[in-house]
Amino acid sequence: MELTINGQTYTIADLGDTRPLLNVIRDELNLTGTKIGCAIGICGSCTVHVDGVATRACQTPVNSVIGKEIRTIEGLAEADGSLHPVQQAFLELQVPQCGWCMSGQMMTAAALLAQNSAPTADDIVSAMDNNYCRCGTYHRIRQAVARAAAIQQESNA
Ligand code: FES
Ligand code: FES
Repeated sequence: MELTINGQTYTIADLGDTRPLLNVIRDELNLTGTKIGCAIGICGSCTVHVDGVATRACQTPVNSVIGKEIRTIEGLAEADGSLHPVQQAFLELQVPQCGWCMSGQMMTAAALLAQNSAPTADDIVSAMDNNYCRCGTYHRIRQAVARAAAIQQESNA
């Protein structure tokens, strides 16, 4: 069974196969940037992109993503190695505290900016609302998503 993750093809054992994508990418493929939080689809720590859509990997059976493009935090940087605008902004504004929720936050933000290059404050709150941060960095997250949109617009100008 083959998975396409960050542009690379990975062969995994075919076990049936309703294992959560999260377990496969972390435990079998060692892509541990994607974090496990609640494991019941609530917190958003495990967010990856599946065909560009922010998706909770803990609730995604691996057999449902065969043939789809999966992107994890390890593949968020640009092809030339430069940081994605979301990564630049989170770094610039020193958003993380413990960091556990951050890959999910950044993947959710990147999916938003791919669909909406000029999000309003309400758009940002709405898109990020279901990604939990137990350190309470919500204010900086929202500032950083707005900053990432500005960086993206500047680089596309
Ligand atoms: S670990 Fe997947 S939503 Fe919490
Ligand atoms: S930075 Fe600690 S959970 Fe978000």
